[in-house]
Amino acid sequence: MGPIGYSKNLMLSNKYIFICLILAFFSLSFKNDKESYLTIPTGFPTPLIPTDNSLSEDRIILGKKLFFDKILSRDSSISCASCHQPKYAFSDALKTPKGIKEREVLRNTPTLTNIGYNQSFLRDGVNPSLEAQVLVPIHEKNEFDFHILLVVERLKKRPDYNDLFQKAYNSIPTPNFVTKAIACYERTLISGNSRFDQYYYQNSTSSLSIAELRGMDLFFNKLNCIQCHSGFNFSNGEVVNNGLYNEYKDIGKMRVSLLEKDNGCFKVPTLRNIAITGPYMHDGSIHTLEEVIDHYSKGGNDNKNRHEFIKPFDITEREKNDLVLFLKSLTDSSFIEDYL
Ligand code: HEC
Ligand code: HEC
Repeated sequence: MGPIGYSKNLMLSNKYIFICLILAFFSLSFKNDKESYLTIPTGFPTPLIPTDNSLSEDRIILGKKLFFDKILSRDSSISCASCHQPKYAFSDALKTPKGIKEREVLRNTPTLTNIGYNQSFLRDGVNPSLEAQVLVPIHEKNEFDFHILLVVERLKKRPDYNDLFQKAYNSIPTPNFVTKAIACYERTLISGNSRFDQYYYQNSTSSLSIAELRGMDLFFNKLNCIQCHSGFNFSNGEVVNNGLYNEYKDIGKMRVSLLEKDNGCFKVPTLRNIAITGPYMHDGSIHTLEEVIDHYSKGGNDNKNRHEFIKPFDITEREKNDLVLFLKSLTDSSFIEDYL
């Protein structure tokens, strides 16, 4: 190419640079967009993210550090991850966990699998926001027994945190940004690559065995499971009574609504990673998946609030085994492998 061609290219390149700048501007504003920091699995929708807490890499890094840091508890003895342990899909394999100083917590630790898709939080769904949810364990006497203002005082004394808050929110540590950063990290906890997903959403027909497929048929077609554990996340998000008790010690949603119709009503939990999140139910009272199926097959216990879809069904030993195998195929090892 001669010198003329060269200068022609140069002239062109001015325009080219201009276009590049415009494109860069747009791609930057896209980067700030909700999903670009999340890997959305095939078949999953894009989660809703509050407009005042869009995701960024720095926010996720800060939130993750806080989630695993014992600095959030009064005596610096436990972190969020002490109960929400990655290896158990962010639950803890205990009937009920203990907070600081071995204090008893009354409910079973739920998984945080796909938590960013939830519309309501806590076992009884009474908390409407993931950001607000962060304050609950911090203030709860039996968990961190601390105060968000005291957390922030500690963080302000730490150069590493000052630096991270600056990068993430252009601010010193504040209560608002502590809750927001942790919520940003929690929104990255997306799980959608189990063998079930590979079969169902990724067209890999050999990913499930014949027995697991029989179990899937029971779950989707023959039993009523899908009435409540529906959709990509195996939960319709409703807060209902599944007949666990005649009389509930923990009255569930009624503790806030004060309405008798909410007595014993709990949020329909996701069944993703269910094999590693036991024991089960709001109080961890059921130990195995076989026993969960026994509970449902007898139609639960009598309770005036028991949902109409909890009713007895016949199931053979082989079918029960198939259903358990199907539930176990919902485990996504890629979700936890980064932490192992
Ligand atoms: C002592 C154990 C423990 C610690 C520490 C703890 N949690 Fe939890 N977490 C629980 C239990 C138990 C529940 C269910 C509480 C309820 O329903 O009242 C829960 C519920 C949640 C939920 C709602 C889940 C859902 O399905 O609605 C989120 C989100 C959450 N915790 C995040 C956190 C974060 C963030 C921290 C740290 C700031 C934290 N947890 C610290 C035990 C713990
Ligand atoms: C009427 C709605 C409804 C139906 C139908 C239903 N479930 Fe549930 N399921 C729930 C609720 C609500 C809970 C949580 C109860 C609690 O926390 O005490 C739950 C909990 C579970 C759990 C424990 C999850 C955990 O993390 O603790 C499993 C496993 C489960 N269900 C499987 C099934 C299977 C299998 C079927 C079909 C045979 C089924 N469910 C049918 C509403 C339902």
